[in-house]
Amino acid sequence: MEIITDISSLRSFLKNKASIAFVPTMGNLHEGHLSLVQMAKQQAECTVVSIFVNHLQFSPTEDFNQYPRTLEKDCTLLKDNDVTVVFTPSERTLYPEAQKVLLNLPPVANTLEGEYRPGFFQGVATVVLKLFNIVQPQVAIFGKKDYQQFYIVQEMARQLNFPIDILAGETIRAADGLALSSRNGYLNNDERIEASRLYKMLLLIKQAIEQGNKNFQKLQDNAKRILTQSGWKVDYIALQQRNTLNQATVEDHELVVLGAAWLNKTRLIDNLEIHD
Ligand code: PAF
Repeated sequence: MEIITDISSLRSFLKNKASIAFVPTMGNLHEGHLSLVQMAKQQAECTVVSIFVNHLQFSPTEDFNQYPRTLEKDCTLLKDNDVTVVFTPSERTLYPEAQKVLLNLPPVANTLEGEYRPGFFQGVATVVLKLFNIVQPQVAIFGKKDYQQFYIVQEMARQLNFPIDILAGETIRAADGLALSSRNGYLNNDERIEASRLYKMLLLIKQAIEQGNKNFQKLQDNAKRILTQSGWKVDYIALQQRNTLNQATVEDHELVVLGAAWLNKTRLIDNLEIHD
């Protein structure tokens, strides 16, 4: 496995590769990331994983400084998973000057995560676009855990004519249902036990709708109430159309329920697709 930190070395290494599958990450890798790597390996001769904590997608009050950086452990895991190249650019390599060219995203980027994390998707889309231009993969893989991120990257690639297939990997969960996430590491023991409640509330909504319940408002309100009573601060519990991420109406099918809530100082997100 090659570990490459600069753009020109990466470009020359990848020049003659027949096909490239790309998994962008911010490191602190877990089974969720590794399942994306496994998908990537089935798609192309060469698998590239990037590790870069992108300041552009963090607001000044967020956890950019605290975000876990575990490069050595990540590289061991990627080597064990037969990745071809790890691209670990420095801040200076990816942003040699202040990034003034930023992507203007469609209104969906201002909803859900975008409402609570203004500028987040602009930061994500801008770094993903830079990474796409650097790596030039045929396939790129994102986790469904970040459902809206996957949706927006797919829209970006489609509308900007990137010749890249954007694939989604399923969310990997702990035994109690908690979606694996680097931010789970912020939870203390008690919080870790409580943390799967977000998933359980989304599951209740999914099951109710799959059994014919159409009272979307009540289902969302109940979930918010139970989470709040259990000590959470809920940002949103939202039923949306899968193919637009617009708010769902009772006539809609192909839905997804998404949630974001704070458990003390840790913000968790999750979602479940609904097959009614
Ligand atoms: O999902 C992530 O880890 C990040 O948002 C991404 C896609 C690597 C961009 O920084």
